[in-house]
Amino acid sequence: MEDPIQRHPTRAEQLDILASLVASRVASRVEDGAPVLDLGFGTGYVAHLILAKNPALSIVGVDRKAESLAGAREAFTGSNVTCVEGDLEAIHDLALPAGPFPAIYSVLTFHDLPDAAKRAVIDWSAKNLAPGGYFLLYDRLRMTDAPLFPLQQGIWSRIEREFGAGMRTAPDFDSYIDDLGTDNRPASLDEYRVWFAESGLAFQPLHIHGNVALMAGARR
Ligand SMILES: C[S@@+](CC[C@H](N)C(=O)[O-])C[C@H]1O[C@@H](n2cnc3c(N)ncnc32)[C@H](O)[C@@H]1O
Repeated sequence: MEDPIQRHPTRAEQLDILASLVASRVASRVEDGAPVLDLGFGTGYVAHLILAKNPALSIVGVDRKAESLAGAREAFTGSNVTCVEGDLEAIHDLALPAGPFPAIYSVLTFHDLPDAAKRAVIDWSAKNLAPGGYFLLYDRLRMTDAPLFPLQQGIWSRIEREFGAGMRTAPDFDSYIDDLGTDNRPASLDEYRVWFAESGLAFQPLHIHGNVALMAGARR
């Protein structure tokens, strides 16, 4: 399966870390075929990476886009993948299998959610993790300090040089702030640290590349 997101050249390594952790660490805790949960499934590229490492896992993928899920259902015929259409902004109303889940992860989806929904999803995930389970969150982070913005621009330039493809960029900090809108509202690392803690999750950034982070939470 080809990566449908071409504007994140650094995500291959970060997703490989996520997929490796789910396929090994989490799999060792899976009892009775309990599924892991993918919030913002899209066409299932992340599930594909995980199943390539551990085909025995079951994955439940949630997304609000029916056409993405239709493609995924076809692509995953014969695998232990279940697609659930629904809105993460109403996570309590989703028709999900009963937890608890050994892992819940979300990739490049949280920036689409209003902050209240981000917090609700983190809180719901904390409550529905199995003991010893992990919540893994991969997304762009909000940059908050204008004086540091040139450093991020340096990282973007390097990414373009190294990977031959650029990421979503901005010419200056004010343009970056102006570009934040309803489909682009990343939270900052500090906000995630607070929100995870408020939900009773230990918080650990696992891999940060400029403004893109893989973060982990575990029930205390
Ligand atoms: C950028 S795509 C990432 C897809 C996949 N995780 C990946 O990395 O390949 C974001 C996905 O989140 C889904 N999404 C965004 N907001 C959502 C919401 N409120 N409820 C359910 N899905 C949502 C979108 O439909 C889209 O499929």
